Formats: sequence, C-alpha cells, structure tokens
Amino acid sequence: MTTRIDGNEIADSVKSNVESCVETLGKDGVKPGLATVLMSEDSASETYVSMKQQACEAVGIESYHYEIPANAPEETLLKRIKSLNSKPEIHGILVQMPVPDHVNEQAVLEQIDPIKDVDGFHPENVGRLTIGNPRFKPCTPHGVQKLLNAVNEETEGKDVAIVGRSDIVGKPMMNLLIQKAKTGNATVTVCHSRTENLAEKTRNADIVIAAVGVPELIDGSMLSSGTVVIDVGVNRVEADNEKGYELVGDVDFDSAKTKASAITPVPGGVGPLTISMLLYNTVKAASLQEG
Ligand code: GUN
Repeated sequence: MTTRIDGNEIADSVKSNVESCVETLGKDGVKPGLATVLMSEDSASETYVSMKQQACEAVGIESYHYEIPANAPEETLLKRIKSLNSKPEIHGILVQMPVPDHVNEQAVLEQIDPIKDVDGFHPENVGRLTIGNPRFKPCTPHGVQKLLNAVNEETEGKDVAIVGRSDIVGKPMMNLLIQKAKTGNATVTVCHSRTENLAEKTRNADIVIAAVGVPELIDGSMLSSGTVVIDVGVNRVEADNEKGYELVGDVDFDSAKTKASAITPVPGGVGPLTISMLLYNTVKAASLQEG
C-alpha cells in the first residue's frame, strides 16, 4: 500500500499553530507583517506571490505588496528593500525569485536585513544553517522536513538522494538532512545535471527528493520498492484545457507510486507546506524583532 502524502492537511496543522502564535503576539499589540516584492512578469511568479499574500491574510499576518517593473534598474529594487528594512511594521521581506537577468540576485539577497530574511537566503542565514544554528530555515526544505515528520519517516541513518542542487531547495535540504538532529542524521547524495548514472543513485536511496525542474524525470524504474518519494517540482506543461497548461512534478507519479511506500502528489504535496513555513518564519521574525 502506497501512502499518498496529503500536503494540504499537514499544512493546515502548521497554519493553525501559526494562527495561535499570531493571537499571542496580538495580545502584546504586535501584528506580524510580511512584504512581498515582485520584479517579474512571469505569470507563475505572480501566482505564487498572490498565494503567499492570501495565506498571510488568512492567518492574520498583514501583507504588504510591492511590484517593480521588470525592466527597472537594479537600484530600484535595492532601494525598495532598504526602505522595507527600516519599517518596523514589516517583519519579513520576500523578494520572489527569479529576478530579471540584469539584476544581481546575490546583491538583492544581501540587501535584505538578515533578521527580516524569512526565506533564509541571506549569506548570514545560509551560514547559520550550515553550522547547525539556523535562524530561518528555507521554506521548501523545511516543509519537506515537516512532511517526512508527519508520515513518521525518520531520516536518521537513511540514504537520501536529492536531485537538484539549487540554493533555494537542494543545498539547504542537504544541510538540514545532515544536521546532528533527530530530523537529520541522514547520509545525503546531491545529484545534478552532471551526475553520472542518476538512476543508480536514486535506486540506492531510502528517500528521494526531486527538486530539479525537469518534468517527470524520475520514474518508477529509477526507484527501489519502499522508497519515500518527495516531489518538489512544479512544472507547467502544455495541455489541451482552458489554461493551456497543467502542472506536473519532477516525478512521474503513476509509475513511481507502484514502487513508493509514500509519495507526494503535484499539486497538493510540498507546495502548501512551502507557504505554511513562510508564515511560520514571518511569525518567528516578528517574535525576534519585538521580543
Ligand atoms: N522562487 C521559487 N521558490 C521561491 C522561494 O521559496 N522564495 C522566493 N523568494 N522565491 C522563490
């Protein structure tokens, strides 16, 4: 029997925990605030940001939104971040990635005050995570940890194959999983586009985490029986429907589920957790700044 991991249900329990933290902060006169900044005309990015704003409002976090034209100079974005850094009512700042090519992503991330960096992408926060003293765990890998926890999947002593080495998912996921902690203590293989014999790596793993952005790259033939499969991919592929596209993961769900002991669907798996962990980090940021 394969467990289909319900991300929405797990995300709801995180959200109700966040809601009670918002209430507690409210008793001290604090309303957590998150600023989202979008410098992109990509419709997927627009959708993600709007989902984040709605999720904030649903749990009582104030949401502030800023749009910067995609052709504006880098300085416009940097100035906006500087101004948000100095606003006390804004506890968290999220610049939706990717930014346009003419904007230096690192310069943007370094401009965000690390105490407001709810994505956990500032080098100071990346460093803290690496040495095992995280302030803000990046939302998607943290969400994956929550999912594994929720299905009682221990990582200690397990072989985990992460497919994808991005700064947003693959690398922080590796860092979380190798921590000396109950939610870590795994042996991690990070695979990427130059990895030779990917299927051998995934077949050797107890847990496969796909975060590579290639539609249905991982199929059942690449998995051993009993593997836990976490699909972080959200890929738009052309479809004959109203929208003209459908969402598919990095895993071929139908063939993978014949091998997996547990598997996340796309949509409805990791995605809802990413948003919940952002809310969690925003409340944490508010507590750190107002405490
Ligand atoms: N783009 C894709 N995922 C993310 C994320 O977690 N945070 C931000 N800021 N941008 C993203």
